[in-house]
Amino acid sequence: MGFFRKNQGPDTVLVDFDRLPRHIAIVMDGNGRWAKKRGLPRRAGHAAGAEVFRTIATYCKDIGLDYLTVYAFSTENWKRPQDEVDAIMGLLKKYLLEAIGQMERDRVKMAFFGDLSLLTPELRELCHRTQEISKRYEGCQVNICLNYGGRDEIIRAARAYALDCQEGRADPNHLSQAEFSGYLYSRGVPDPDLIIRPSGELRLSNFLLWQSAYAEYYFTGVLWPDFTKEELHRAIASYQGRNRRFGGV
Ligand code: IPE
Ligand code: IPE
Ligand code: MG
Repeated sequence: MGFFRKNQGPDTVLVDFDRLPRHIAIVMDGNGRWAKKRGLPRRAGHAAGAEVFRTIATYCKDIGLDYLTVYAFSTENWKRPQDEVDAIMGLLKKYLLEAIGQMERDRVKMAFFGDLSLLTPELRELCHRTQEISKRYEGCQVNICLNYGGRDEIIRAARAYALDCQEGRADPNHLSQAEFSGYLYSRGVPDPDLIIRPSGELRLSNFLLWQSAYAEYYFTGVLWPDFTKEELHRAIASYQGRNRRFGGV
């Protein structure tokens, strides 16, 4: 990978590919509005968003990113009309079947963050299979947040930790941040350096609450199905211009 890459187009974005963030997280938002703008059903927006996810995930592996985490379905998204939830779950099944079919070609390591017990047994099995088969791949790890909520994740970690204390496996007087992190879905994964939210909303919507403590943010009005590699370059270039102090000087 060259040191700098100049992108085509009117506004040139300079990205230093030797200084990429280690972990990028994305709230894949705006599918419904994208469809509405075109007079299409919301599910068409989700289908378009799934394709963009495929493109961006493959690109992240190609440029040598270590971790990509995407928010695909939140613990609050069950509130949506049943036919929309069904459409999203159907797309997920299609995506996972295709991902499993092309695994040897794509060689992307995949993991899932979230409570998968609320998914259908078939979907749950597909998630487990995808995770198991792709374990042996090196390079970018893509974490898909499914039925994921930051608060839910913290509560589950607290419960698991309390149980370990009760059963003598942990000592509450010595709980450290690192130890607590080990109880989260994201155990073993470094915190995100850059969180991208498309669609113009300026909120986290319960995404990676613990892990985002010192993340840099990039908000853009682009809707997720319109998101491109160029937009990703803009986000990374913006990140590379920041001064991260972590409370220091
Ligand atoms: C994100 O797009 C996908 C999910 C939340 C599953 P939305 O469906 O939230 O799209 P908007 O925000 O309504 O445009
Ligand atoms: C966040 O988007 C969840 C996902 C993208 C999966 P939402 O569309 O659910 O968030 P709100 O409702 O705008 O906060
Ligand atoms: Mg939304």
